[in-house]
Amino acid sequence: MAAGTPIVDPRPVDHEAVLRAVYGADPAFVHPDVGFLRRVLSGRAAYLRHGTARAFALRGDAFAVAFVDPRLQHRTGRPIGSIGFLEATSQDAAGGVLDAACDWLRSHGVQEAWTPFNGNTFFGVGLREDRFGEPPFVGCAHQPSSLCSWLEVAGFRRVAGYRNYEIDLTGNAWRGPSSRPPAGVSFRTAVRRRFREEVATFMDLHNAAFQEVWGESEFSREEALELMGRARLAIPPSLFQFAVADGREVGMVLCMPDVNEVLAPQRRTLTSPSGVWKMAARRRKVRSAGLLAVGLDPAWQGRGIGTALVARACEEAARLGFERVEYALVAESNDASKSTVARFGGKLCRTFGVYAKQLTAR
Ligand SMILES: CC(C)(COP(=O)(O)OP(=O)(O)OC[C@H]1O[C@@H](n2cnc3c(N)ncnc32)[C@H](O)[C@@H]1OP(=O)(O)O)[C@@H](O)C(=O)NCCC(=O)NCCS
Repeated sequence: MAAGTPIVDPRPVDHEAVLRAVYGADPAFVHPDVGFLRRVLSGRAAYLRHGTARAFALRGDAFAVAFVDPRLQHRTGRPIGSIGFLEATSQDAAGGVLDAACDWLRSHGVQEAWTPFNGNTFFGVGLREDRFGEPPFVGCAHQPSSLCSWLEVAGFRRVAGYRNYEIDLTGNAWRGPSSRPPAGVSFRTAVRRRFREEVATFMDLHNAAFQEVWGESEFSREEALELMGRARLAIPPSLFQFAVADGREVGMVLCMPDVNEVLAPQRRTLTSPSGVWKMAARRRKVRSAGLLAVGLDPAWQGRGIGTALVARACEEAARLGFERVEYALVAESNDASKSTVARFGGKLCRTFGVYAKQLTAR
């Protein structure tokens, strides 16, 4: 079956139409946060001050956005581009938008395309590889199991992956590591009424900490505020902490309730006005907290501060009544992070793949 020619620069309704076609009958589906996608499609995303993007769609059947970000190319030292927001109803339709996205990337000098990768890991990354019948974990992808083989047919192969680890707060294994600060280090909780400044500090630390981690690249304060601004009410302040030394923040940890547990039956987007309200109102029913980021200024790594931050996050999560912490989206090659979660008895509970295709000139 021929898939037709993709339309260029589709509108948000075209994305919605494909979501309906793919997930209309999927009870585990949670509407993804489309705030960033909408800003990209309208040309208003802070991302576009740094990178370029172009969307493609086959009406009702497939959708994809191609991204070129010099910051990712700088970090990897290679002409890499990415393809994100990929959704399709069939193998042909997936191939149609992937080919169009690859052609566009080629025309921008890209020699290797990564997918699924929504421009930056913060906007979403990875292809779901297990637990297909469950709602996606907060911040993580949800796709049908068929997408993996459709990517392979389109010439992509798995080159990297991410892992989630479960820390069981109902047992005792997580209590081993100490949350006591090493000498000269103190901790403070983020202040909700100064949320914008706290997000800026978080982002600066993230950019410094993640320099050597696969797939990561610089993320601006403006992009962070666009992304996290509306999550202010959904993040209990005690789950957002900083380590302080020499009078400045040197490390951070950020957790968020897995609001998808309560949003799945609602079929509302996480950051729609009603989604934000429901998220805040029903947060207390959620069993799991996602540890979405922990990072140290490189000069302060390897001194036990990361372990202390994770221990403090787990203590706070347990105090708030959560039964488990999911330590999310650890790059497969990130040994320091895998060692850190192992100290808490973390068990592998979800994996996500990232696929790549070499783009030879046509
Ligand atoms: C991962 C991170 C938060 C750990 O914090 P830390 O304070 O550096 O680590 P700790 O001193 O508490 O040690 C925890 C474990 O990490 C290991 N570790 C620390 N730095 C390491 C490194 N550079 N390479 C390999 N292992 C390392 C320690 O040896 C220890 O493991 P062990 O129990 O097997 O001895 C920190 O290294 C970091 O910010 N890394 C970059 C950002 C990142 O990867 N964050 C996690 C994202 S999922």
